[in-house]
Amino acid sequence: MTTTPTAGPLAEAPPAISAVGLRKSYGDKVVLDGVDLRIPEGTVFALLGPNGAGKTTTVEILSTLVTPDGGEAQVAGCDLAGRPEGVRDAIGVTGQFAAVDNLLTAEENLLLMADLNHLPRRASRERVTALLERFELTEAARKPVSTFSGGMRRKLDLAMTLVGRPRIIFLDEPTTGLDPRSRRTMWEIIRGLVADGVTIFLTTQYLEEADQLADRIAVLDRGRIVAEGTAEELKRLIPGGHIRLRFPDAAQLDAAAAHFTASARDDETLTLRIASDGDLPALRAVLDVLDGAGLRAESLTLHTPDLDDVFLTLTGRSDSLKEAS
Ligand SMILES: Nc1ncnc2c1ncn2[C@@H]1O[C@H](COP(=O)(O)OP(=O)(O)O)[C@@H](O)[C@H]1O
Ligand SMILES: [Mg+2]
Repeated sequence: MTTTPTAGPLAEAPPAISAVGLRKSYGDKVVLDGVDLRIPEGTVFALLGPNGAGKTTTVEILSTLVTPDGGEAQVAGCDLAGRPEGVRDAIGVTGQFAAVDNLLTAEENLLLMADLNHLPRRASRERVTALLERFELTEAARKPVSTFSGGMRRKLDLAMTLVGRPRIIFLDEPTTGLDPRSRRTMWEIIRGLVADGVTIFLTTQYLEEADQLADRIAVLDRGRIVAEGTAEELKRLIPGGHIRLRFPDAAQLDAAAAHFTASARDDETLTLRIASDGDLPALRAVLDVLDGAGLRAESLTLHTPDLDDVFLTLTGRSDSLKEAS
């Protein structure tokens, strides 16, 4: 006989963030339509959704910048409505649009933040120096922020959030608009914060980003959470990726289609779409079959599920991303 698993220590720890039935409208536009959240301490939670889904509004509510029309939430053990100052003491927020002052240098921005956090002079110097080093901004420390790249700005913005050593950090689209290299740097920084035990609430439009960073992901669409789970669980909801082969003529396409049973053909474009997770053994198997049959594909492309696929699967719409951007 099997025993029912009992809740472990993690399940009993009070969540860093919990919310029930959050609602918010602007005029007759319903922006959040009953959002529930439960985010354990020390974990990374990603709120994934296209432009206009309500991600920033959720962050604004949980960080006490905006009052919800309905529902309740606790952050760091404090009720949003009852003890907003307790919430503000525990959190750091890095907004979607960098809040740094362009006319000041990076160092001046950080020192200003230290002042706002009432750090004593000596502690404030040490903290600022350490943060500049950690974010590889030491060399640029005395330059005005107006000369910074997007990636440097984002790093400075996050460094400013960290001056007050928040236990819970909200990152609203931390890598939108960054080049791939800066995005990776930002991911490394976020991983470092997690290693320090910080709880991270992150919003993103990229499934890959959520996949890379988050313990749990919630998909937000038109103010509702339409799916929630680990990256693995979400991916299981999405039909896997596929390999697409294009052939020079209809005869080759016919022959290939006969060899791959789990496939869909498009006679117009002479392509065959083979369901596959796209890993190397799967790819090799496809090439082996082609070789064995003496077939030559003109091109081969790999398609991994992306946010479009998630949305298509969960909402039956594929327009969500395009309509917004
Ligand atoms: N202050 C506001 N006044 C009016 N409408 C708003 C306001 N803030 C957000 N909205 C609307 O709410 C919807 C969700 O916005 P937002 O939370 O910023 O979404 P996201 O961050 O996911 O892109 C959008 O349609 C937006 O236009
Ligand atoms: Mg936003």
